[in-house]
Amino acid sequence: MALGVHRLTRAATTAVPATPTAGVTRTGGRSYDRRMSASSSAGRREPLVGRAAELDDLDEVLSTVTTGAGATVLLEGEPGVGRSRLVEALQGSARLLGVDVVSARGHDPGTPYALLADALLRRDTGPAAPHARGPVVAELTALLDRVPAGPSAAPARHARAEELFTALVRRHGDDGPWALVLDDLHLADAPSLALLAHLAGDGVLPHALTVMTLRPVPRPELAALVAAWTRAGARYLEVRPLSMSACVELAQHLVGAPVGPALRGVLATTGGNPRLVVDVVHAVQACGALEPRGGGVDLVGQSWNDELDRVGRSHVQDLDPAVRHVLGQASVLGTSFVVGDLAALTGLPLTDCWRTLRHGLAAGVVHARGDRLVFRHDLVRTGLYGGLDPTARRALHARAAWALREAGAPSFVVAAHLERAR
Ligand SMILES: Nc1ncnc2c1ncn2[C@@H]1O[C@H](COP(=O)(O)OP(=O)(O)O)[C@@H](O)[C@H]1O
Ligand SMILES: [Mg+2]
Repeated sequence: MALGVHRLTRAATTAVPATPTAGVTRTGGRSYDRRMSASSSAGRREPLVGRAAELDDLDEVLSTVTTGAGATVLLEGEPGVGRSRLVEALQGSARLLGVDVVSARGHDPGTPYALLADALLRRDTGPAAPHARGPVVAELTALLDRVPAGPSAAPARHARAEELFTALVRRHGDDGPWALVLDDLHLADAPSLALLAHLAGDGVLPHALTVMTLRPVPRPELAALVAAWTRAGARYLEVRPLSMSACVELAQHLVGAPVGPALRGVLATTGGNPRLVVDVVHAVQACGALEPRGGGVDLVGQSWNDELDRVGRSHVQDLDPAVRHVLGQASVLGTSFVVGDLAALTGLPLTDCWRTLRHGLAAGVVHARGDRLVFRHDLVRTGLYGGLDPTARRALHARAAWALREAGAPSFVVAAHLERAR
């Protein structure tokens, strides 16, 4: 059985993660990755795949804006699923239609109004001096230097900044249709989020397509904004994982050839997350694991197993270490697990275990299915499992055997854990 398929099969059918298959020898011959990376790194950007329906939806909203109406879209999805890529495509369409695009990305939660200032004050529109772009921009630019963090500090300055930003946004459409594209709202500063939530009180922005992307992280300011815009009739678009065929198409664009069954097997463990697809392909190219096979390319040897584990772990590297730790322990239980069993395994009270796991849910690492949680991408689960210290991993399997026996699991599952505890 090809290794990649083995990875997939163990993900799909076993409750207990298997260790990588030993003894698969790497075939000789010239590694395909070097030829591939030469073509794929020549500045070529992979095309957008599998998003025809989403683009149709967005194009339709865009066309209503060109006729003078306003519209708002909230675009939500897990990290790496392609929110930014989708709004980039939308911005391309908007520019083609002569719609002025104003955009910014949330990245600076500690600086008041950083998001709105990036979008509205730091535009590259000719004369650099703020006063050359009108008195409102000039006053705001000067004011922002003196607005301290925290809404309770200097409330009069905050109020004035809100007033001026509101005027800027409301008047922007006077010259024609425009698009306000705000990416990664979950990382934006609180005053920008509060102001955007207030704007919803008057309904859609005139002549504007407002697109806001976010991850569903538990943040009160974000929840307030989403609620306000939902009440104001914003469209909600969930950016879902790519289909398997779109993942394969993306991988084929990246390697420049049809991909074989072993690589397809690994692609199936990405859960349709395009960032993971891109990272998997780059990782296997970098470790020389792709070779010509049957008119295309495929994985050979097993040098790529550790690399893929690293890709899986890097997907969760921004999570709190305590959350990563619990998810690592959960990886011992398999692709899905009952929260109570994990609590027993970790020795945590059920409520503490659940509270920690909620961060994993918010980050899209696991999702809920009844009383179970399921790892969204087996690549990530396998990476977490591979990253456990071997002694600790054996101890976890021993505890898992005990916890599952107590919970009434079938004896073959308990036995499989005991086997791995040795
Ligand atoms: N539909 C797609 N087709 C091809 N590549 C994609 C697609 N969606 C995302 N990507 C690629 O996946 C990576 C992550 O996408 P990105 O838009 O940054 O994710 P997000 O903003 O949701 O975190 C980027 O390299 C991007 O080019
Ligand atoms: Mg993004």
